[in-house]
Amino acid sequence: MKHETPLLNQLESGPWPSFVSDLKQQAEVRAKNEENIEFQIPVDAVEDLLGVLELSYVDGTTHWKHGGIVGVFGYGGGVIGRYCDQPQNFPGVAHFHTMRVAQPGGKYYTAEYLRDLCDLWDLRGSGITNMHGSTGDIIFIGTTTPQLEEVFYELTHKFNQDLGGSGSNLRTPADCIGSSRCEYACYDTQALCYDLTQEYQDELHRPAFPYKFKFKFDGCPNGCVASIARSDLSFIGTWKDEIRIDQEAVQAYIGGEMPPNAGAHSGRDWGAFDIQKEVIALCPSDCMKYEGGKLEINNKECVRCMHCINVMPRALRIGNDRGCSILAGAKAPILDGAQMGSLLIPFIKVEEPYDEIKEVIENVWDWWMEEGKNRERLGELIKRQGLQKLLEVTGVTPDARHVQEPRSNPYIFWKEEEVEGGWDRDIDEYRKHHQR
Ligand code: HEM
Ligand code: SF4
Ligand code: SF4
Repeated sequence: MKHETPLLNQLESGPWPSFVSDLKQQAEVRAKNEENIEFQIPVDAVEDLLGVLELSYVDGTTHWKHGGIVGVFGYGGGVIGRYCDQPQNFPGVAHFHTMRVAQPGGKYYTAEYLRDLCDLWDLRGSGITNMHGSTGDIIFIGTTTPQLEEVFYELTHKFNQDLGGSGSNLRTPADCIGSSRCEYACYDTQALCYDLTQEYQDELHRPAFPYKFKFKFDGCPNGCVASIARSDLSFIGTWKDEIRIDQEAVQAYIGGEMPPNAGAHSGRDWGAFDIQKEVIALCPSDCMKYEGGKLEINNKECVRCMHCINVMPRALRIGNDRGCSILAGAKAPILDGAQMGSLLIPFIKVEEPYDEIKEVIENVWDWWMEEGKNRERLGELIKRQGLQKLLEVTGVTPDARHVQEPRSNPYIFWKEEEVEGGWDRDIDEYRKHHQR
């Protein structure tokens, strides 16, 4: 290796797959170049990456310069530019830009597709990736500016593959695996995610918003893609009718023939399954009972928390009248504190071509794009102008489900038209009845 990396070497021991060992392996593959690749960026880029990382381990600070604005023509985002602040010592990473590549729904791949991407990235980049970025994209880590258009050309022309989003725009949407491999899925998360990604390509590639905006799609309230915490608009599957109960299967759970939670707790002895203790008593709305060998659910009181279904997946199934809830405003702490999504649409059907859902999205955007301050997330605009305003712009009638609890303070705004006589008052009129 080009640089000594004593601190990083310590991370090669231990049972977890070591990123240091993998990087070293990649550095060696490039050095040997058995496939005779005409590398388009320095062959020792990975060695210099290890070198600059070791330096950061030594002095406890980053060695990337501030910012970086690079990209491809036609788009305003998709590439995160980055330059090393020690380019003489680590010329291989003097440019080290990251490219975001749009991932398929549920992240299902064929080996052929991945091989193609790797061939491209081995030639034109460092060969290092992140599978995947937190938003969902395939991340190509490290290339030079002149390679960006080359990579983009090959992605689009050879692999029919676009870039992902970055900047003040719609970011790459992501979904849980949904109905592809999960019996809890209340709608086809991949279909909706794909459709909206295609529908709003313009908003994704060319930033037109006050700030970033994310969509995520969870097939049920278990939230496997964490949409409620990590997307400005969160689509969470649910149902409106009854949980379907297979009483025979309930007996099989009670009789110990089927493991609770599909065996998720089998690593420890929790005793025999006790439906009373593990299901009935844990139902948050206390709407279940088990009597005379029969499980009953008062579905009117059920909040669809998924607990009972998660414990007895073979006996309890989601209802047949399915759709999703839409929640708005999740964001990380900066500026005014972390938020999770707040319920906006309790229930909406998820049916192609998703016109109703698109209407909600576009109403939210019309409002936020006009009223949002520079670098103000949707969640912050909702705080500043009020949930009431969000309901108005989306044409949603206020509903008890919109709040966890009613307000306790009495600083209540009324609309002028709601108040008899309005706001135009004459003090002289008042003085006729009340002397100074
Ligand atoms: C630009 C001038 C003023 C500003 C910015 C101002 C601001 C405030 C603020 C922020 C509060 C607290 C409200 C709350 O607790 O939610 C307050 C309360 C109050 N202010 Fe002022 N104020 C101003 C002028 C005045 C004047 C001139 C008077 C009296 C002649 C006055 C009398 C009061 C009283 C009595 C309260 C308490 C009201 C209550 O708690 O119900 N303020 N003011
Ligand atoms: S969020 Fe629900 S539907 Fe989606 S994968 Fe997780 S459990 Fe299944
Ligand atoms: S889904 Fe949750 S609230 Fe509904 S019955 Fe099951 S445990 Fe109770």
